[in-house]
This record gives sequence, C-alpha cells and structure tokens, in this order.
Amino acid sequence: MNYNKKTVKDVDVKGKKVLLRCDFNVPMAKDGSGVITDDKRIRAALPTIQYLLDQGAAVIACSHMGKPVATFESYVKKQTEKGKDPASITEEKWKKSLAELRMEPVAARLSELLGKPVILADDVVGPDAQAKAAALEPGQILLLQNTRFEKGETKNDPELAKKMAAMAEVYVSDAFGAVHRAHASTAGVADYLPAVSGFLIQKELDFIGGALADPKRPLVAILGGSKVSSKIGVINNLLEIADTIIIGGGMAYTFSAAQGGKVGDSLLEEDWKDYANDMVKKAADKGVKLLLPVDTVVADAFAPDAKSQVVKSGEIPDGWQGLDIGPETVALYCQAVAGAGTVIWNGPMGVFEFAAFAKGTEAVAEALSKTDAITIIGGGDSAAAVQQLGYADKMTHISTGGGASLEFMEGKELPGVACLLDA
Ligand code: 3PG
Repeated sequence: MNYNKKTVKDVDVKGKKVLLRCDFNVPMAKDGSGVITDDKRIRAALPTIQYLLDQGAAVIACSHMGKPVATFESYVKKQTEKGKDPASITEEKWKKSLAELRMEPVAARLSELLGKPVILADDVVGPDAQAKAAALEPGQILLLQNTRFEKGETKNDPELAKKMAAMAEVYVSDAFGAVHRAHASTAGVADYLPAVSGFLIQKELDFIGGALADPKRPLVAILGGSKVSSKIGVINNLLEIADTIIIGGGMAYTFSAAQGGKVGDSLLEEDWKDYANDMVKKAADKGVKLLLPVDTVVADAFAPDAKSQVVKSGEIPDGWQGLDIGPETVALYCQAVAGAGTVIWNGPMGVFEFAAFAKGTEAVAEALSKTDAITIIGGGDSAAAVQQLGYADKMTHISTGGGASLEFMEGKELPGVACLLDA
C-alpha cells in the first residue's frame, strides 16, 4: 500500500467548503454527565483545523462517537441478542443511548481549544446540517452530529457518502483512529471529492509507516496484551521486519505452555499453542530474536491485593496465575530496548491496572523513555500506560489509533488511507 499521500498543503482550500473527517471518539465520564475524560484526540486534530481556517476554508468537521445503534429495530435486535428481557427494551432507552453519544460536549471542548465558536448541526446530512453548511463562511467551523446516527455510515452507503460530499468541495481526512474502517465518512466520500490527508494522518503514516518500511535498526518490537489470537497478524508481519520481538502480557503463557511449561491458572489459549510454536520456529528460521519471559510474577487470584510471588516461567504452580513479567525478564527486556534503533510497543506486559502487577509495564515504559531509539507507541493500552506514567513527552510518537495502529502494524491496507490521492 502506498502511504505517500497528498496532504492539505497540496490543495487550494481558500474560500472552499472542506469536509474534514476527524476521530473525535473521545472517552466520556461513565455517569452520563457529558464530561470528556481525555481530549487528546480533539487536540490532535487542532493543527489541521487551524491550518484550514487560517487558509480561509469553511470547515465542515465530522466524526463518529461510540457505537450508536441507528434504528430502534436494530436496537431491539441487539438487546435481544444480548439476552435482555424484551419488556425492558424501550424506545426511551434507545433514545437515551443516542443522546449520550451526541457531539455537544465535543463541540464545546473544540470551541474552547480553538478560541472561537463551533457551530453544531443537529443532524449529519439532514436539513439542519445542509442549511448550516450552505451558510458557512470562510474561517468558520461547523461540526456535524455523530456520523453513526446515519445507518448508512458503517455500511459505507454511497447515497450517504454522496450527500456528505455534496456539502463540500474538498475532503480532508485526519481521523487516523478510524482509517481501518471503510465507512461512508472515512472512505466512501473520497469517491466524490478530491481527497487528501490532514497533518495527523500524515504524521502517523510517517512515523509508523517509516518504522515498518525503513526502520533505524535494530528494530525491537514489544508485544503484550492478553491474547495471542488478537496479535497473530502483528506477530506475523513483524517477524518479516523486526530484528527482535519481545513477548509479554497474558499471551506469554500460551507460548510457555506450547513449549511444555506449566502455567498453572494463567490465561491460556489452548487452540493457539501450535501457532505459538510455529512463530518460535519461524523466528529461528529468519534469525529474528524472539524473547519470552524467563520469570513471572504470579498471584493466587486475579485481584489487586492478591498474594504474589516470583517463579521461573514454565514453573507456575497450580492455583497460581501469572499477572506480570518478573524482575529477570524486566532486566532482559530493558537491555534489548537500550540497544535498539527503533522500538515499537503494543500491549502491556502485565495487568497494569493493578499497581502490584504494573512493574513490568512501568519498567518497559521507563526504558523507552531513556533510550535514544525512535520510540513508537501503538494506541490503546500501551498509550494509556505511557501517559499515566508521565512518559508521554519522552516518546517519539504515540499513535492516536487503537485498532487502526494495530491493523497498520499487521501490514493491512487501511481503507481510510487507500482512498486518499497519491502524492
Ligand atoms: C477508536 O476508538 O479506536 C476509533 O475511534 C475507532 O472506533 P471504532 O472501533 O468504534 O470504529
């Protein structure tokens, strides 16, 4: 896939209506108060928005938020599938679920950050959006309602894409977090408008794409997380590219069991043991160093205050489960990081939500903060860990995409990038 794409700088946007797809899918407080708990994704879109406004474009911004169910019929179906009592499924509850995913909080925060009003539409391509888009002046910004309120959005319905495109003259995508989705607003609209990337997508492509295509070596990939099954694509792809692959997190126990180790009550994907062995063999054949934990912090329960001890990997007693990498493993992994030219990190080393089992993840984050290597942090949990630990500004690049950065590292084509004009 070609990652060399035209950007906002390659098109004339002066006096034009620009449809700008952002990823404003920000975390909100669980109490329904509409408080945004992390505005990183809104901030990440500011350089492109500010540039477009400064150039005299009229910006029609849009984004999805959460996973709203666009029709009551689909809501009933989904709730029934979840085993909910049919009597408890009401239209009122469906409307409440939609109300919690409206864009008002995003518009308010964006307005604060830009220091200017953000006009909010009440729909996506309905009469309110169309009227407000038509009246929009250069230098003004309009935010459409949650694109997933339209049932055609996730189906990449060409009619919806056409309607969105009809409001503008240029399409700019800066929604890196959503580029792995072939939806009407992330890919479909590009069939009807000249389509270019914003600065955020350009940055993500430069850093992640650069690390995958032409890394400063040695390239060390640190892969964690609970399941081998969710990281197969990444392991496979990185085995072709990396010099060293470090395995941590819950998936290490499947590797250990596959090699005949005792894993006690640790997380184990029995069906993936053969795959794990194949990966060990493939790494050896390719001359890729595959590092697995040599010791493990085990606990007598999956709880923050569980009793714990350090044991050798493959020797976990019955009744105990591994929740973090042990101190010898930490030293081994930190040594590999220290000698790296580039480090890509995706997935925590243990259950870092529990302080007692966060040491492995903390140590890796600290090692990354100290190395001179280029450090790329995949979105999701590892990005959250780096942020929580206060190392964010020490990293070369922290991706704003969770699923998107994972699919990127898997070497998959990203529909939201493929649809943009080649440079
Ligand atoms: C994300 O949060 O990773 C992106 O906004 C994509 O969201 P989605 O998984 O709901 O498509």
